[in-house]
Amino acid sequence: MGTLFFGDNLSVMREHIHDESIDLIYLDPPFNSNADYNVLFEDESGRAAPSQILAYEDTWHWGHESELALTDLLSDSSPCPEAGLLLDSLVRALGTNQMTAYLAMMAIRLCEMKRVLKQTGSIYLHCDPTASHYLKIMMDAIFGAEHYRNEIIWHYRASALTSAKNVFPRKHDTLLFYTGGSQWTFHRPRQDDVSEQMMQRWGRYLEEDGKTILYGSIKHEQKEEERSRKRIEKRTGRGPRDDDVAFEIKPSRTRSVWTDIPEVRQSHKYKEWRGFQTQKPLKLLERIINASSNPGDVVLDPFCGCGTAIQAAQATNREWIGIDITHLAIGLVESRLAEVGVTPNIVGAPRDLGAAQDLARRDPFQFESWAVTRLDGFRPNRIQRGDGGVDGRMHFPKPNGPGRRKSDTGIAIAQVKSGHWNVQDVRELIGAMDDPSVSADLGILVVMNPPGPRSQAPATAARAGITKIDGRSYPRVQIWSIADFFEGRFPNLPIALGRESRRLL
Ligand SMILES: C[S@@+](CC[C@H](N)C(=O)[O-])C[C@H]1O[C@@H](n2cnc3c(N)ncnc32)[C@H](O)[C@@H]1O
Repeated sequence: MGTLFFGDNLSVMREHIHDESIDLIYLDPPFNSNADYNVLFEDESGRAAPSQILAYEDTWHWGHESELALTDLLSDSSPCPEAGLLLDSLVRALGTNQMTAYLAMMAIRLCEMKRVLKQTGSIYLHCDPTASHYLKIMMDAIFGAEHYRNEIIWHYRASALTSAKNVFPRKHDTLLFYTGGSQWTFHRPRQDDVSEQMMQRWGRYLEEDGKTILYGSIKHEQKEEERSRKRIEKRTGRGPRDDDVAFEIKPSRTRSVWTDIPEVRQSHKYKEWRGFQTQKPLKLLERIINASSNPGDVVLDPFCGCGTAIQAAQATNREWIGIDITHLAIGLVESRLAEVGVTPNIVGAPRDLGAAQDLARRDPFQFESWAVTRLDGFRPNRIQRGDGGVDGRMHFPKPNGPGRRKSDTGIAIAQVKSGHWNVQDVRELIGAMDDPSVSADLGILVVMNPPGPRSQAPATAARAGITKIDGRSYPRVQIWSIADFFEGRFPNLPIALGRESRRLL
């Protein structure tokens, strides 16, 4: 039914999602008003995960990412030149600050969403008044002002979000609804319940079989004095009489101000609550999905958090794609889906050690590929078995090797151990390097965690000796851990053939 991606939605959309393949996009990106929400995601030790800190930095500080987004959008090959011009003007007017960094992050991603959305599709951008005015002109620039359909106010029932005494407490979010073209799917929904006004107007009512039933001897067209009589009867609290006629009152059709969906409270008595700070109510997502898609359509949530949109899409028989940059969010979506008996397909690049361990547990082959490609210039094996102990290899120029021609190339191989490992794995790596069909100059044993203090592995690796390449010395066998990777440490390797830079981003 669906796929969940770990990772930055920009690269996931670019690499995995085809043009015009999505029927409905709902996105609920972090808002500036809640700028510190990310640090609320803590792991079991109470620390914020590094991937979340990274996402936080990239979102809120004008830096390399923001410059890259602006340059891309202004370039000749820009997917959305209007968005580039708009962003450039905003940066000139407002300067490089948290707001423009946020808008740069959003602009480049919204352009990708425009690319993947079908002409008949719809997009709902969930935001709040902190940035909604800027986002609306950005949406006009990207999707076309003629494709703007609604600004929905979700007036939630919640305690005030500000303790300031000199402003009106905030009580709403804004959803910007645009379409991909001039024809789109729309099934106008009804309010979730019968409004207070209707109840007052129509007197006594009872909930029966999920319907709101009015018991009364009057009908809509009857006179005002009869209605008043019913209201009096309602207040007296008497139940239906034998001669009462039962008829159903339908809730009114939904307009652009939504007042009937409460916030998911931070309390365990609310069954939906997953402890995720920015979690949205299921009803909100069901309304959007039912209104703007049909069963079998594809729903994308590129900032999926704990997966409210995904759960709603699953429940309404839509296909879905969810993306989140944090392992924590992906784990929550997974457990949410498990409750309804669904095991999602999970794809993507971990951004911290926890995520890497998780990937190794779920899909060791994908983990192997991911781990090998952290080493600059290394290519993973495409097959899982029969690899002769080689999970990836890299070629490098080897100009002055003894007995070799000037143009000779050297080979480094990598072997990945995703679980428990010991000195025997080092010996096996040396065996694979020495195999005449491989004949590797260098070998890297990629492990999850570095060797412990009593491990024999480092000494065994050291005994494999030193290889000289182009006048420089490299340990022939090196042990490199994923923990090292996340701390920015890399093995000592020659530069790969055709590579200018040796660090992967
Ligand atoms: C406001 S929350 C979404 C909440 C979600 N609607 C729900 O009901 O649970 C925003 C999410 O976007 C994720 N995020 C932030 N930047 C991202 C990026 N560049 N790519 C993918 N996910 C990102 C955060 O990790 C966070 O989980």
